[in-house]
Amino acid sequence: MKALITAGGRATRMRPITHTINKHLIPMANRPMIENAILKIAETGITDIAININEGDTEIPKVLGDGSNWNVQLTYIEQMGGPKGLAHIIHNARDWIKSESLLFFLGDNIILGSIIPFVEEFKTKNLDCLLALSRVSDPQRFGVPEIINGVITRVIEKPQEPPSPFAVTGIYAYSPKILEAVAHIQPSARGEFEISDAHTWLIEHGAQVGYQEITGWWKDTGLPQDLIEGNALMLDQMHEGNGQTATRQEKNISIQGIVSIGKDVTFGQDVLIRGPVVIGSNCHLENCYIGPYTSIGTGSRIVSAEIEHSILFNAVEIQQAGRIVDSIIGEKARISAASLTLPRCGHRLVVGDNSSVEL
Ligand code: G1P
Repeated sequence: MKALITAGGRATRMRPITHTINKHLIPMANRPMIENAILKIAETGITDIAININEGDTEIPKVLGDGSNWNVQLTYIEQMGGPKGLAHIIHNARDWIKSESLLFFLGDNIILGSIIPFVEEFKTKNLDCLLALSRVSDPQRFGVPEIINGVITRVIEKPQEPPSPFAVTGIYAYSPKILEAVAHIQPSARGEFEISDAHTWLIEHGAQVGYQEITGWWKDTGLPQDLIEGNALMLDQMHEGNGQTATRQEKNISIQGIVSIGKDVTFGQDVLIRGPVVIGSNCHLENCYIGPYTSIGTGSRIVSAEIEHSILFNAVEIQQAGRIVDSIIGEKARISAASLTLPRCGHRLVVGDNSSVEL
């Protein structure tokens, strides 16, 4: 079995962050988001993994390399002709898939549990397609299965009136029959070759389509707040071994709960860190409180501020900024109190396109 991970697209709903970084590389607990997909696949024993990237993208291959970090072999496949839908991604990769069965994994889906039982069920039941379903409160945002007498009868993409409370998650297992399906469907009203239409095609053409409900945590990271939630869940996965708890009397430094601190992090006076928190290497912390569910990228500097439930990319500088919560702060961003600059009134901002600032 081979695996194909998606890592293309434009992620317009994540702007401005995605103006300068591919969504799949956004750090979650200081690791690129897509690493979650690679790790989950590697756990199943699959080693031959292709990553679908945008035409001309060099960023993803540069960050992920040949896969040896995870003991897998990575191949990069450019999606020719632009983002034309998930079914098109499979069609575009047909020469690489050949006649193997395929685990298809959307690189922006984050799950906490193992997918080993999912892959095993696909194999033992000899299916053409196995869908991982998750019960959600807003199925109209997803592909939704219609289930009659325990059998999926069709899958509808983003239905206004969902026929079931399930989302089809971005984890799919297929026999080579999927290549026939993706070659036969037509583009949808939004001009995309929908994966849901490929599933309905399989059902209509007598293929064996099953489903498994995943009850563990699953998230499709479509919006900025999903990133903060995903980051928090990844931080929750840190084990005692990753962290440290310490109190240093001399500078009034207190580290509580599970906190991972990178190399060469320096501390000034009065620092309280309450995990789960991850702090990258070469950061400096002084007179600050770092609260639960915060990730701080390497080379950042936090002085006289409080930060909680937030993602800071690399080389962020925050000084006398009060309390920052539920925030995503991009690389090399600087946030400081207006009182440090002249004239001493008003907010002075350099805010990129599509940014959102609550003062
Ligand atoms: C895509 C699929 C949808 C699926 C979802 C899961 O939607 O089209 O069927 O439920 O992924 O993450 P998108 O995220 O592209 O809107």
